[in-house]
Amino acid sequence: MRKPNIAILGATGVVGREITKIVDELKIEFNEIKFLSSARSAGTKLEFQGKTYTVEEAKPESFDGINIVLASAGASTSKLFAPEIVKRGAVLIDNSSAFRMEDDVPLVIAGVNDEDLRCHKGIVANPNCSTSQLMLVLKPLIEKNPMKRLIVSTYQAVSGAGLAAINELTENTKARLAGENFENKCFKKPIAFNVIPQIDVFCENGYTKEEMKVVNETKKILHLPSVLPISCTAARVPVYNGHSEAVDIEFENEITPDEVREILKNSFGLKVIDNPSNFEYPTACDASGVNPVFVGRIRKNLAFKNGISLWCVADNLRIGAALNTVRLCQKVIEMELY
Ligand SMILES: NC(=O)c1ccc[n+]([C@@H]2O[C@H](COP(=O)([O-])OP(=O)(O)OC[C@H]3O[C@@H](n4cnc5c(N)ncnc54)[C@H](OP(=O)(O)O)[C@@H]3O)[C@@H](O)[C@H]2O)c1
Repeated sequence: MRKPNIAILGATGVVGREITKIVDELKIEFNEIKFLSSARSAGTKLEFQGKTYTVEEAKPESFDGINIVLASAGASTSKLFAPEIVKRGAVLIDNSSAFRMEDDVPLVIAGVNDEDLRCHKGIVANPNCSTSQLMLVLKPLIEKNPMKRLIVSTYQAVSGAGLAAINELTENTKARLAGENFENKCFKKPIAFNVIPQIDVFCENGYTKEEMKVVNETKKILHLPSVLPISCTAARVPVYNGHSEAVDIEFENEITPDEVREILKNSFGLKVIDNPSNFEYPTACDASGVNPVFVGRIRKNLAFKNGISLWCVADNLRIGAALNTVRLCQKVIEMELY
């Protein structure tokens, strides 16, 4: 198998740093690697696999000779560089929302819909973080029993909003404990000791863009009919890292909590922790820094006929962004799609 030349675009950001770590962890074999950012961080020194690299400012020529670009530099940067990357024959694996819903761009979670990668035309999109962890849970279940309805409530960590948001939680908490005034910048409301029922902007239908991403991306990834009822409420919580989700699923046919546990125990990327009588259930702290999507509190849903409720948590920077990006890179290499 030939080894690609890889560029990490947005290498100095929260997700970019995690991508760099995971390229090493998953032992991705490459010929050359380079690290790109905006002019702000160009010149930063980065240690990787025992070598020191200098971060370069991303320019169109930066992609000459590159085969795979792992991008986490925001939607406008991805839109700016995508034509240059594709023109040079490289594959862009993009973390931003720029191309996710475009018809000719596969939206892929590794281990869920890998075959969709074969249709790429130069760009592969990585789903939104709250969608990502959910897909690994839903896929094995709906393979056994089709889904009729889905309701998701998310409790999302501040790391999902980048470095500045992480710092805002710290500074806001310190100010609050010291009884000082604090001006929020990243969030519309104070994040310290609070829960904010808004992530991203509001749409005309009253949902936020983040909530509609969960609805639309789920349908695209799982190839579900557009009329299938899905609803989401997304909230930001004062947690540094690790998204939690309360999930209610109505199935076509009867299914028991034990059957769900058994299916999920044997599925890719998941770990079931579900013994409430012994206080065993997953929390964001269990998920932060590790790869599995953890599932617990699996029980019969009392509101739906064939309903199951469950709780799932995952590291939003890993499965919700960097881990899936690097797993996609691994698939693109294995399937020789570059
Ligand atoms: N955080 C998450 O959980 C998460 C999950 C899924 C997807 N994403 C997506 O991933 C992207 C990055 O998120 P993040 O949390 O890592 O943000 P971040 O910490 O703010 O990092 C942004 C990165 O992009 C670089 N960048 C910004 N503008 C650029 C430009 N014009 N040219 C080249 N590089 C540029 C920055 O470089 P400088 O250091 O030079 O500023 C930095 O390396 C966003 O699209 C976000 O929506 C994030």
